[in-house]
Amino acid sequence: DWTMGAYRDEMIGKIKDQVGDKTVICGLSGGVDSSVAAALLHEAIGDQLTCVFVDHGLLRKDEAKEVVAMFRDNMNLQVIHADETELFLGELDGQSDPETKRKIIGRLFIDVFQKYADQIDGAEFLAQGTLYPDVIESVSFSGGPSVTIKSHHNVGGLPEKMGLKLVEPLRELFKDEVRALGHELGLPASFIGRHPFPGPGLAIRCPGEITREKLEILREADAVYIDQIRKHGLYDDIWQAFVAILPVRTVGVMGDGRTYDFACALRAVTSVDGMTADYFPFSHEFLGETATRIINEVKGINRVTYDITSKPPGTIEWE
Ligand code: XMP
Repeated sequence: DWTMGAYRDEMIGKIKDQVGDKTVICGLSGGVDSSVAAALLHEAIGDQLTCVFVDHGLLRKDEAKEVVAMFRDNMNLQVIHADETELFLGELDGQSDPETKRKIIGRLFIDVFQKYADQIDGAEFLAQGTLYPDVIESVSFSGGPSVTIKSHHNVGGLPEKMGLKLVEPLRELFKDEVRALGHELGLPASFIGRHPFPGPGLAIRCPGEITREKLEILREADAVYIDQIRKHGLYDDIWQAFVAILPVRTVGVMGDGRTYDFACALRAVTSVDGMTADYFPFSHEFLGETATRIINEVKGINRVTYDITSKPPGTIEWE
């Protein structure tokens, strides 16, 4: 794509002009946006970039390992893996209100990020993978619940507090353009094609109180669901797919015994930019097979439902 190639060169020039020989810190979330931002910055300024990957213990199965390995080993980027699972889960313990959970995660994220960033000598810039829809969502819905949607990602107020200047090389792009840019930068297709993953992670897919037990069950169920979607060749037709573990236990039968385990909801939507979405029309066969697999393979779940709510009126995530 010549347009993206030209955009890449233009952005590299702009980044070099803005940053000069100074040091840049970039928060890596494992998502496509921050990954593409990091890759672009790396291409522009090489070792002047250090990435901080904040691991809040709310990631999918094997995610932290895979992301860190890709950036360190494949791309030769300097990555600090900040494993702060205990801190995040400790503070979230007993909290069930969605906004409170988000605020805790947002606040801790900033604290942790700052703690690690302070260890990077002479940093003057903070890079963020803010996209165009992030920019307009935070403006056009101000006052409504969407205000906090990206509160985690946009680490509001942080640059000023840390005395850092902001670099936002993706500010003019939509998601599909970010993917094209990632391709242009040589990121693996499997990585670029990954579904978006929200900053607060599994916290907003675990409505109500978060427990380690629920997170573990959720990770396993999600892995089976995504495996099913990939096996059926549907991954790329779907904008986002995930499991939410419901805060309710239900009665079931397994063999001769009665079970009393969690119910979960499968979510899959099509969308262009995440602002509106339709539920994905899986076949009944797919849904039945997936439910059977999850119940057989994941200890702790005995009931599977499929969420057929579109956005609006629903949101994509459950919290
Ligand atoms: P909703 O649930 O608002 O989600 O329909 C729209 C898109 O945004 C993602 N999302 C978030 N991303 N921080 C993020 O970085 C957040 O707090 C957040 N909340 C939702 C969601 O995964 C979907 O792609």
